[in-house]
Amino acid sequence: MKRFLTLPIFLSGLSAACATVIAPKVVIVDFYNDEANIWHGIPEFDLLEQNISIPGLSSMYPHIHCTADGEICQLITDEGEINAAASTTALVLSPSFNLTNTYFLLAGDAGINPKVGTLASVAFARFSVQVALQYEFDARERPEGSPTGYIPQGTTAVGDYPSFIYGTEVYELNDALRRHAIGFARNATLNDSASAQAYRATYAADPENLPATLEPSILSCDTATSDVWFSGKILATAFENAMDLFTNGSAKYCTTQQEDSGVLAALARGDVHGLVDFGRTISMRTASDFDRPAPGQSASDNLFNGQDAGYDAAVMNIYLAGVQVVQGILRGWNHTFADGVEPKNYVGDIRRTLKGTIPPDFGPGA
Ligand SMILES: *[C@@H]1O[C@H](CO)[C@@H](O)[C@H](O)[C@H]1NC(C)=O
Ligand SMILES: *[C@@H]1O[C@H](CO)[C@@H](O)[C@H](O)[C@H]1NC(C)=O
Ligand SMILES: *[C@@H]1O[C@H](CO)[C@@H](O)[C@H](O)[C@H]1NC(C)=O
Ligand SMILES: *[C@@H]1O[C@H](CO)[C@@H](O)[C@H](O)[C@H]1NC(C)=O
Ligand SMILES: *[C@@H]1O[C@H](CO)[C@@H](O)[C@H](O)[C@H]1NC(C)=O
Ligand SMILES: *[C@@H]1O[C@H](CO)[C@@H](O)[C@H](O)[C@H]1NC(C)=O
Repeated sequence: MKRFLTLPIFLSGLSAACATVIAPKVVIVDFYNDEANIWHGIPEFDLLEQNISIPGLSSMYPHIHCTADGEICQLITDEGEINAAASTTALVLSPSFNLTNTYFLLAGDAGINPKVGTLASVAFARFSVQVALQYEFDARERPEGSPTGYIPQGTTAVGDYPSFIYGTEVYELNDALRRHAIGFARNATLNDSASAQAYRATYAADPENLPATLEPSILSCDTATSDVWFSGKILATAFENAMDLFTNGSAKYCTTQQEDSGVLAALARGDVHGLVDFGRTISMRTASDFDRPAPGQSASDNLFNGQDAGYDAAVMNIYLAGVQVVQGILRGWNHTFADGVEPKNYVGDIRRTLKGTIPPDFGPGA
């Protein structure tokens, strides 16, 4: 009975995927199962109506999920910078999809800087910076005068602008689009939890951490991408300084995660060939933990024991805030989003690979 019922659905899904190219209005980009599953079984739309297998995805997440009408899809890249770039590249190059008008909503959880925000907050970034793309010495062997083992590549001192540029150091997103997304997300009633409240209260002893002690909210602040999952004030400060240096003071160090710049690298390359519009990208991260310990706590205690307090609320808020963004884009499609949101800032990478008339206010300069 069960098999008899599901067979026709499976076949129609398969033939639709083969016969027609899917041109989604929104692709939600998640990075692992909890972030992905929070979108499944929701009342607003059903991402499991089509499962499309394409070569090059992670073996853990081998399908792109889409609604029956193909308007909303979901890519699950798997975790870390390499998985993020490889899986996104697979989607960008897939002949099963036409992504020229697609909005990409990067929607994952993150660590957060307690000087800027708190557990369960939702942060929309304009900059994603690959902060650990640097020289590294073990801290016990670091050069004299250096606060950590990290030194920008091609330099000999921590404050020098990197001179070996790989091209993935900084991505700047469309701020006008970000403002729309923030407006939509503010419509959400964010989740919070007793464990998040208790953990954030431990940060109150240092007045610098005031934002950590407030209720969760929608933030506009930037994101650090790094394969290195770190905890501690010294490294956090080093990466905050790197973000400041790489963006010539424009970025506000706020969330920490392991994928965004990988996804953005693949999307930027796709834009060069007209396969995607990089100006239609939104980076949203919800805070599940802090990037440094509370006063009196050790860095290792924060990392080993502080990851659960805000986790459930952060994952819930990926959906609660994110669904407002998805629906806002669909509702406003005809009058605002179909033609794209005109950026008023530089949009692209550190090498100015993309066309565009506004020059960046960051980068190594001439
Ligand atoms: C798509 O895959 C999910 C599991 O990931 C499954 O629950 C769902 O039924 C599948 N949808 C179709 C149409 O086969
Ligand atoms: C993709 O969609 C756009 C917008 O509808 C259209 O102009 C373009 O021809 C399509 N590309 C392909 C390869 O079908
Ligand atoms: C907020 O949500 C309501 C109900 O879903 C919707 O009608 C309204 O347009 C939304 N407002 C914004 C700014 O997204
Ligand atoms: C957060 O979500 C959980 C799980 O759905 C729910 O039990 C709880 O009541 C929610 N809390 C708030 C403050 O929204
Ligand atoms: C948007 O435009 C399409 C095509 O012209 C039309 O079918 C659709 O009803 C419009 N949607 C809204 C919400 O106005
Ligand atoms: C960014 O800062 C570096 C180092 O001070 C400088 O050489 C470069 O010209 C600046 N870039 C821009 C676009 O102002």
